[in-house]
Amino acid sequence: MLNRFSMKNSSFHYNNLGCYYKFLCNMVAVGFSKSLLKSKRNERHFHTSRYLSQSLVLGIETSCDDTGAAIVDSKGNVIGEALHSQLQTHLEMGGIIPPIARDLHIENISRIVETALQNADLEIKDLSAIAATVKPGMPLSLLVGTHFAKQLCKKSNIPFIPIHHMEAHALTARMVEKVDFPFLVLLASGGHCLLAVANKIDEFLLLGESIDNAPGEVLDKVARRLKLRNLPAFSTLSGGKAIEELAKQGDATAFDFGNQPMYKYNDCSFSFSGLRAKIHRHVEREEKNHNVEADQVLPSAANLCASFQHALFGHICRRLQRGMLYVDMKQMIPEGARKLVVSGGVACNSHFRKYLSIVCAEMGYTLVCPPPKLCTDNGIMIAWNGMEKWTAGVGVAKDIDAIDIEPKATLGINMIEDVRSCNISLKKKGIKLLPKKVKC
Ligand code: KG4
Ligand code: ZN
Repeated sequence: MLNRFSMKNSSFHYNNLGCYYKFLCNMVAVGFSKSLLKSKRNERHFHTSRYLSQSLVLGIETSCDDTGAAIVDSKGNVIGEALHSQLQTHLEMGGIIPPIARDLHIENISRIVETALQNADLEIKDLSAIAATVKPGMPLSLLVGTHFAKQLCKKSNIPFIPIHHMEAHALTARMVEKVDFPFLVLLASGGHCLLAVANKIDEFLLLGESIDNAPGEVLDKVARRLKLRNLPAFSTLSGGKAIEELAKQGDATAFDFGNQPMYKYNDCSFSFSGLRAKIHRHVEREEKNHNVEADQVLPSAANLCASFQHALFGHICRRLQRGMLYVDMKQMIPEGARKLVVSGGVACNSHFRKYLSIVCAEMGYTLVCPPPKLCTDNGIMIAWNGMEKWTAGVGVAKDIDAIDIEPKATLGINMIEDVRSCNISLKKKGIKLLPKKVKC
């Protein structure tokens, strides 16, 4: 699993720290349930009963920097939801600092879960199950949601469903659109980039993943290097969103990023560290050429953003195209029923979606992108993944105490070697994504 956080190689034992946070979260969960029960006792509602004939799952997300909670029914209706984003804090700090992210989760989780339930006009006892992200993610953040959910389940005697964050991203599309198994899924976020075939709710074949950074992580760092926060219009946006917006005014052919990353490797792995180094060199050169002062934004920033997006998304699309050729070679998805689901925060990017639609049109795939709100981290995707598992009768914890967080967790069965052994070349097959001299 990729690690964009400062605790990278520390000898960090989350199990020991877990005792302390278990205690904290116990306190939170106990206080939470009491206040919720009290506030609801005298105001039993009319419309709750209409939901009670069917299953309801509460989902809790705290794997990174969003505290999310939502309740969904078995048809995929969102009955209640709440989300607290830590984006502004982390923008001000210059990145995500794990203990700060944890403290903000602890500060907000009770209120967020309570708000989601109140929006749904439901009580804990009305729920069929509670699902929470237990892997992968930042250990300190994962602990908060996992222990909070476990305590609620134990107190109210409700089943617990542990959730894999990337599986939840992959299956969210099924909540809003008819997407049958098997399908191809591309996930690009601040922590991951991976390509997989989803065969079942709990069966994934991993075709490729990033060998170094994640695309969102690199976009965030490039936006910081370009000081885009100093432009008032972009000061509150995530790095990826800021780059997307500025790139709209730029020329994608203005800067050359040279050879595609990993162009010699005929597999579906991704790599973003080389692109990151290249843009840093371009920025340094441009800053010298333009004599920019400390807080100034480069006059060529829009061109840099547009060219960088083109290089980054072009790389992802080439690896994706090879994945599609592999799927075809191995007949993994029936022809005529091939769908590509794309999700994760970077999938919000409209320019990326445009490139993906070109690849899908050429390769005979239907492109499915959930609305941006469901691509970035949220409680709904966790609740939906819980609901899919609940309905299928898979993945419900037999022993809640035996469930612990797993900060590093791969997705599904690793097929990366098999893809590599097929040695699929894109020479002469490469898809043109950008007509010459086109503004993005
Ligand atoms: O999926 P997500 O909410 O959290 C993780 O699991 O990482 O993704 C967050 C990432 C951030 O790096 C952010 O810069 C990026 O998604 N992002 C975007 C856009 N909106 C968010 N990247 C490119 N274009 C966007 N419009
Ligand atoms: Zn995510």
